[in-house]
Amino acid sequence: MKARILSPSSEHLREASRHLHGGGVVGMPTETVYGLAGSAFSVEALAKIFAVKERPTFDPLIVHVGASVLKSGNPIATLSEAGVIDDTLLSEKMRNTAEKLMRAFWPGPLTLVLPRGSRIPDLATSGLRTVGVRLPRHPVALALIEAVGLPLAAPSANRFGRISPTAPEHVAAELGDRIELILDGGRSEVGIESTVVSLATSESQPILLRPGGISRNELERILGAPLDVAAGSYAHTKASAVASPGMLESHYAPRTPLRLLPATLSELSDTRIAELTHSIGPGSIALLVLMDNAQSAARRFATVARRDVTALTLAPDGRLETAAHNLFQHLRTLDAANAKIILAEPCPASEGLSHAIADRLNRAAFSGNTRSS
Ligand code: TXA
Ligand code: MG
Repeated sequence: MKARILSPSSEHLREASRHLHGGGVVGMPTETVYGLAGSAFSVEALAKIFAVKERPTFDPLIVHVGASVLKSGNPIATLSEAGVIDDTLLSEKMRNTAEKLMRAFWPGPLTLVLPRGSRIPDLATSGLRTVGVRLPRHPVALALIEAVGLPLAAPSANRFGRISPTAPEHVAAELGDRIELILDGGRSEVGIESTVVSLATSESQPILLRPGGISRNELERILGAPLDVAAGSYAHTKASAVASPGMLESHYAPRTPLRLLPATLSELSDTRIAELTHSIGPGSIALLVLMDNAQSAARRFATVARRDVTALTLAPDGRLETAAHNLFQHLRTLDAANAKIILAEPCPASEGLSHAIADRLNRAAFSGNTRSS
């Protein structure tokens, strides 16, 4: 392990900034998940990001910009002048929509896909003529972007396809042998990635590409209209592949296979649990519970299945925000329990963050099933 985890002192921010100016990459805290940051204008830095993550270059990066963009009073013009986006390619309608969303949700967990500006290399956007832009609200991310004076491209700081990091130790565990600096910003508050909305569509309607930290209802409240959803998180069509290249089915995967329970814990009968655990075969079980008490759930499964069961609850307080905050951390902890399988209670997609949580659980399960079958 060569990475140092640094407190965000001004001295360390200067050190990270020098590193970034030299084409290096840095582990950066954000309110959603930790990112692996490099200059969005440097092909060398971008190449390093892809290499360190072992990320395929068809998966575009999000460019993080600083608070000065909003302070300017005209964020779209400011981003355009900086060469991050090209506002001449935005229709009047899309420009107004973009501005509304920026004012409502920036700084925060919303990424907007806009026409790409002249200073963003092909590598950052996988050759697309659009670029994902986000103004994060984590104070350390904002301080770093200001210190560097450059927009920072940053994917989540995990190896490709694995669980996103929500604490500096997670970044060290994923990439500590490949990077030198990780800034410590504590645990990421939101816990799941930003919502991605495209404003560069031919339909001239905004489209939700990835559910995340800002819910669809919140977006629709500001837009004053229903928001279209990309043809599919799970669609295999060419169209969806182009719309959102990074939305692979298998993602956020623990090493332990993960399977979604066929119903919530209260809906599952003991007979059903017995059948299910029998079909899995012998071995200990890790259980990811949504809101119920973990100990009682573990006891119930242990009694019915007659084996060791470790359980964790995502939201003991019953709040979806808490579930999102804990999701990746708990997946990591259960993965480390070395169980035969992780069984996860499904999150019924209703409102708020439930869509994003259900999306991440489905993707984690997709990989788990692939490997266990
Ligand atoms: O919360 C987040 O967004 C975190 C933190 C670090 O900011 N970043 C993050 O990056 O989740 P990453 O690389 O794991 O996910 C980026 C995703 C891509 O996989 C793709 O789905 C979408 O954002 N994306 C980026 N640029 C795009 C573009 N030009 N067109 C369509 N989708 C884009
Ligand atoms: Mg990611």
